[in-house]
Amino acid sequence: MLKLNTRIAVSLLALGAGVTFALAAGSVDDQIKTRQDEMKANGQALGALVNIIRGQTAYDAAAVKTALDTMRAAIAASTAINAWDVSAQGGTIVSRAKPEVWSNAAGFAAAEQQLADALTGLEATSDEAGFKAAFPALGAACKNCHEQFRAAEN
Ligand code: HEC
Repeated sequence: MLKLNTRIAVSLLALGAGVTFALAAGSVDDQIKTRQDEMKANGQALGALVNIIRGQTAYDAAAVKTALDTMRAAIAASTAINAWDVSAQGGTIVSRAKPEVWSNAAGFAAAEQQLADALTGLEATSDEAGFKAAFPALGAACKNCHEQFRAAEN
């Protein structure tokens, strides 16, 4: 109960911030939905790449590029609406973003950078061997951030 009350209090506080922010870039729910859409796109794109790693799909440089472009576009959509901003808390959509996203902003930024670096590494590859060598860094970037900043499903 205490936990619930704290959550409500935090949500109300964040809602106040969100209302101000809404004038510039849409509602808190828009921000939450956009970052969750970003992550859904990441999940689909990663799935396509994992299929290549597992040999279920043949390596195809164009397909790899499509998946990487999808992740880049998803990140850009989140950036455009400040989906990870401190204002993007509260709202009515259930979010699994931990408070540490904002209380450890430097750590979160580093985790975002790790993803960007992994994408850059993969974008620099042009054959199957290079792709396979660069791929683990991408999975590691997802895992690293989720371990620190994504709450378990309940
Ligand atoms: C910088 C941190 C970070 C990185 C990097 C990251 N994620 Fe996430 N991810 C999160 C957080 C936080 C959430 C919860 C967002 C929310 O609910 O508001 C999440 C949620 C998700 C979800 C659930 C989306 C939904 O709401 O249905 C999927 C799927 C996902 N991530 C996949 C990935 C994949 C695949 C990668 C790597 C390519 C990745 N993520 C990289 C932080 C990250």
